[in-house]
Amino acid sequence: MQLPPLSENSLKDKVILVTGAGDGIGRAAALSFARAGATLILLGRTVSKLEAVYDEILSEGGAEPAIVPLDLCGATLSHYQQMAQTIQEQFKRLDGVLHNASQLGYLRPFAQIPEKEWQDIMQVNLTSQFYMTQALLPLLLQAPHASVIFTSSGVGRKGRAYWGSYAVSKFATEGMMQVLADEYANSKVRFNCINPGATRTKMRAKAYPAEDANQLKTPEDIMPLYLYLMSDQSIDVNGQSLDAQPKK
Ligand SMILES: NC(=O)c1ccc[n+]([C@@H]2O[C@H](COP(=O)([O-])OP(=O)(O)OC[C@H]3O[C@@H](n4cnc5c(N)ncnc54)[C@H](OP(=O)(O)O)[C@@H]3O)[C@@H](O)[C@H]2O)c1
Repeated sequence: MQLPPLSENSLKDKVILVTGAGDGIGRAAALSFARAGATLILLGRTVSKLEAVYDEILSEGGAEPAIVPLDLCGATLSHYQQMAQTIQEQFKRLDGVLHNASQLGYLRPFAQIPEKEWQDIMQVNLTSQFYMTQALLPLLLQAPHASVIFTSSGVGRKGRAYWGSYAVSKFATEGMMQVLADEYANSKVRFNCINPGATRTKMRAKAYPAEDANQLKTPEDIMPLYLYLMSDQSIDVNGQSLDAQPKK
């Protein structure tokens, strides 16, 4: 997909929530969205990382973000409902959500996946997105145009040995996006997936410890697709699963 050139302030006046905003792709997305004029809600589990992103946004002259410290593994629907209420009170609107936080778990034979690992991966990578989307939909539906981006993976489109619970959670993420996109096709909220492709982050290093990370794209390199899908230039794009690094 050829992305159209984006205007400088393509996210001006938008309020956008990013999960896993303290590190890796989520951190880069939060900074890029802020540079494009958005006000960020930074959600993650390590407060010091979120504070560093908060400081960086302010030092670049961006709008003051909000920090939501939350471990997606333990959070229940009521945590997300409280968060939605706080967003309503503080910002009065929500224009976008980037579901980005995920855990890889451990690459291992399917027969050896511990029950707890399976449940934790499903909770963080999948169920938290269900809770959060349910809680935030009323706010998103009030926005003039809202964009919800889910984060997929190559192993969420074609299964691969030893990627077990992570791969299954990404297939289900694609499914959740498709169900929502169809259900809200006649609304002003759109739902799409991004497959980032191999990107230089801690998660990638955990999955491929022997590779030369310098050969990989950085999170900053893959931001054009994130900015496009969050901006009003993509208001007609719904139900798509797009690659941030399309094969040439
Ligand atoms: N990098 C790649 O090559 C690649 C390829 C395909 C798909 N993806 C997907 O892209 C997304 C971002 O991955 P990444 O590579 O940037 O990973 P990363 O560097 O490991 O960052 C993951 C982020 O998610 C947060 N997180 C993890 N578990 C959490 C929890 N229980 N509660 C709250 N926050 C939690 C982490 O917080 P802490 O820092 O506090 O742990 C971190 O900010 C993921 O959905 C991943 O599956 C990545």
